[in-house]
Amino acid sequence: MTFSAVDVITAKRDGGRLSDEQIDWVVAAYTRGDVADEQMSSLAMAILLNGMDTPEIARWTQAMIDSGEVLSFGDLGRPLVDKHSTGGVGDKITLPLAPLVAACGAAVPQLSGRGLGHTGGTLDKLEAIPGWRASLSLEEIAAQLASVGAVICATTPTLAPADRKLYALRDVTGTVESIPLIASSIMSKKIAEGTGGLVLDVKTGSGAFMKTLDRARELAATMVGIGSAHGLATTALVTDMSVPLGRAAGNALEVAESVEVLRGGGPADVVELTVALAREMLALAGITGVDPAEVLASGAAYPVWEAMIAAQGGDPSAALPVASHVETVTADRSGTFVPDALAVGVAAWRLGAGRARKEDAVQAGAGVLLLVDPGDEVTAGQPVLELHTDTPDAVAGARAALDGGLRISAEPTPRPRLLLDEVRA
Ligand code: URA
Repeated sequence: MTFSAVDVITAKRDGGRLSDEQIDWVVAAYTRGDVADEQMSSLAMAILLNGMDTPEIARWTQAMIDSGEVLSFGDLGRPLVDKHSTGGVGDKITLPLAPLVAACGAAVPQLSGRGLGHTGGTLDKLEAIPGWRASLSLEEIAAQLASVGAVICATTPTLAPADRKLYALRDVTGTVESIPLIASSIMSKKIAEGTGGLVLDVKTGSGAFMKTLDRARELAATMVGIGSAHGLATTALVTDMSVPLGRAAGNALEVAESVEVLRGGGPADVVELTVALAREMLALAGITGVDPAEVLASGAAYPVWEAMIAAQGGDPSAALPVASHVETVTADRSGTFVPDALAVGVAAWRLGAGRARKEDAVQAGAGVLLLVDPGDEVTAGQPVLELHTDTPDAVAGARAALDGGLRISAEPTPRPRLLLDEVRA
């Protein structure tokens, strides 16, 4: 059936709901190039302003899945389970989590993206490891899932191509922050990936997409609803992103911190979130009788990490790149240290850890290292942060981003609670 793009746009502009046929047509026609970018951006804006109801979101998601292929890894001898985070500052959790869950008996196919803006991308982090390769064929992914149990690699171009095109358009048209569009974008890729279960980490706070807890809960519930409508067992945790996660924000710095966690150490908040997400993943995979906290603390996930990195050409024992220039930031008074996640994320990005445009390169060694945990007491003049970069000219911009973002509170201010809510099917 063929529709007029203008009729579809005006229906949504006027607050109506789109029929299944209209949704199927507009998503397919846009993917083929028969609906122009300006028409799709107008429709995306109408959706952002007027929303979509639950059946519309489910159909939109299905149309995006149908725009490409649905992967199937066959019988791997282990249950498949995956995780997605909506992204945050210092969010390196995928790095310890995938090998941990594999060490506990599941298979984790993490098809990931690169970072844009102040949140880092998982692939950018792993590319700090000498030799590591992000692009794998489907056969290589399946073989690694069977042998190692964990793969973190670039998503394939055949997976939900409608989303790839639409997300790039939303990025430049002010239409990213729509819950129906974010939820269908994330879930179409995860459903097309063929995972058997999915755990979502929906972040809230200054460093997250969703600035308020209510919006994060709504996004979590929308994604869990899409999962249920598509027969994918999905659980969401809503977690804090008002302060950075762990002490490192930046590619090689975050790999080093992840390795500490895999060896049984590392910052308490990174360990807490890794274990909480692992428990949910194992529950969805039907794996009982294994305590991921014990496995992580024992260091037993580390050999899986080594195998996972080596299988993709990386040298897990190679020295990580370090920035050529390091500066220290000191506390301007005494009190409780409360670093703002967004300020730290923007500082790391300006130091060279992130990119402004897709084609930009990132610096492997750049970023921000906290020397003090959020909620700890500091005294005036004490070093609280390190700024790492290969381009010293970038330091002024990073310091400007941190201006006002490194609060030193006169009152005791404990680190905000990490696990704020959970949404189950
Ligand atoms: N991540 C995605 O994959 N899609 C969105 O729309 C937002 C974040």
